[in-house]
Amino acid sequence: MYSEKVMDHFTNPRNVGEIENASGVGTVGNAKCGDIMRIFLDIDNDTHIIKDCKFKTFGCGAAVATSSMATELVIGKTIEEAMQVTNKAVMEALDGLPPVKVHCSLLAEEAIHAALWDYAQKNGIEIEGLKEPKKDIHDGEEEEEY
Ligand code: FES
Repeated sequence: MYSEKVMDHFTNPRNVGEIENASGVGTVGNAKCGDIMRIFLDIDNDTHIIKDCKFKTFGCGAAVATSSMATELVIGKTIEEAMQVTNKAVMEALDGLPPVKVHCSLLAEEAIHAALWDYAQKNGIEIEGLKEPKKDIHDGEEEEEY
């Protein structure tokens, strides 16, 4: 039921770990399944190119595979390009996910956005199209956030 690429990234995840003194760190959880993902970014302040990206995921296989693929997709990209790395892009790169696991890929997109938000806050810049991230992907569903 999982593609070969998903199985590959699950059993042999890329870029696992932490970045010391990261430019931006983002953590997002999914309270419904209890999974948590943290993304670390190392960004060049002049070129805005993402030099490195690492992740730590306490979650299901699909969450591990999508975070691994997401790190590969954003490394070498500019912040603006990384904003285009949506959960759909990650899923396509993995040759798809079973429908019940699609929500897991949202964690990767949200965690990257959270890390970019952290970078923007620390550096006093605005990133086009980036909104304040959620702490949990279900935030705002049952309670007002604004
Ligand atoms: Fe929680 Fe996949 S089941 S992220």
